[in-house]
Amino acid sequence: MGRKLANKILECVDMIEFTARDRLKLLGGASALLLSACGGGNSSTSNEILSLPLNSAPAPTVPTAPTPTPLPPSPTGDGMLVDGFLRDSFSNNFKIGTAITANRITENDLSAQIAKAQFNSITPEYELKADQIAPVEGVFNFVEADRIVDWAIANNMEVRGHALVWHEATPAYFYEGTPAQIRARLENYITTVVNHFKDRIKIWDVVNEVTSVDIFNGDDGVGPYRDTPWFNAVGSDYIEWAFNAARAADPEAQLFLSDYETENPIKRAWAIEIVRNLISKGVPINGVGHQFHLQLNTDPAQTLAAITAVDNEFAGLINHVTELDVSCYQDPGSCWENGTNCDADLGSTPPAALLADQARLLRTIFDGLALKSSVETVSLWGVRDGDSWLNESPTTRFNYPLLFDRNGDVKPALEAITDPNYVI
Ligand code: GLA
Repeated sequence: MGRKLANKILECVDMIEFTARDRLKLLGGASALLLSACGGGNSSTSNEILSLPLNSAPAPTVPTAPTPTPLPPSPTGDGMLVDGFLRDSFSNNFKIGTAITANRITENDLSAQIAKAQFNSITPEYELKADQIAPVEGVFNFVEADRIVDWAIANNMEVRGHALVWHEATPAYFYEGTPAQIRARLENYITTVVNHFKDRIKIWDVVNEVTSVDIFNGDDGVGPYRDTPWFNAVGSDYIEWAFNAARAADPEAQLFLSDYETENPIKRAWAIEIVRNLISKGVPINGVGHQFHLQLNTDPAQTLAAITAVDNEFAGLINHVTELDVSCYQDPGSCWENGTNCDADLGSTPPAALLADQARLLRTIFDGLALKSSVETVSLWGVRDGDSWLNESPTTRFNYPLLFDRNGDVKPALEAITDPNYVI
């Protein structure tokens, strides 16, 4: 679509309250109708209008139709992406979040600047984990956590508290003693942390990754519950202890169970079973977090099925996407388990075809998520490709899993999810 026509339509829709994404949808859809309702365009735009589809179905191929021109990539490094563009694109759908570390919070850090400008939810990447807050039993250190939480709030971003209970990043003392001692220590930890942030954090991943993974890598999980130091110490009861303690500390907080590979039907069923067990016991849980660490060969329908499964089973539960990224590799399980048969490093320049595949996958996922009213936040796990943990895991190599490239420039995936007319 010609820029002139686009501007004319935007001028017209300025009279109505739409999000950026709605506006982009309009550019591809009911634009002709809108323009005529606004008094039409000049004669050259009118000719262009005739070639536009009147609904969102693909336009029939008309030989005289202009070839759609993709919007040019909008670099953020030099400030060309309009502030708020990404978050505003989804303001009618969900908050759009990112993970970031406290050490990035400086005026000169490009990821922090992009986070401030484009996202409205922040997940501190490390600072709220137990080994950061309480590396020594009984000694709580909130300095770095406070710094990142206050920065997020000062910049009008919501904070996802991640995570009260995990089996990684947890000092060994948590598992010492009798079940009663372990429970008391856990409850004290949760009470102290939730109370500390009570006025600032209203969303907690209460438990992270508690669902069995034995089908994937041979862990001997028992039923739906993952075989972890927590499970070994006290069985599955720690999960309800954690939710109850978090609720007691903050009656208003939204409490989540978050896990990865809910896009896998078997693992999803186990996660659902755990949530069902919690609810049947009256344990306070408000939502399910889906990490969605995806690969290019992920079936997008399965990510959406994970949301639908929660919707169908538990009316009123919220869904969050908590750690979205799309690896440009398609590693077999053995790469994750023991570092063997990982795909070869693609180098520092990502192949355009892979970025296009990534854009297509994310467009399908975001389009689907936008239709799910239970999805209240979608968080990426990082800002720029270079920030991602996937450059080191499961092996060290270049990866490009996020919406902004290493220079902070917009990637095809960001264009694809915000602009229905963007040609991939
Ligand atoms: C898991 C955790 C996150 C983070 C990522 C990898 O998904 O939930 O906190 O550690 O792994 O970086």
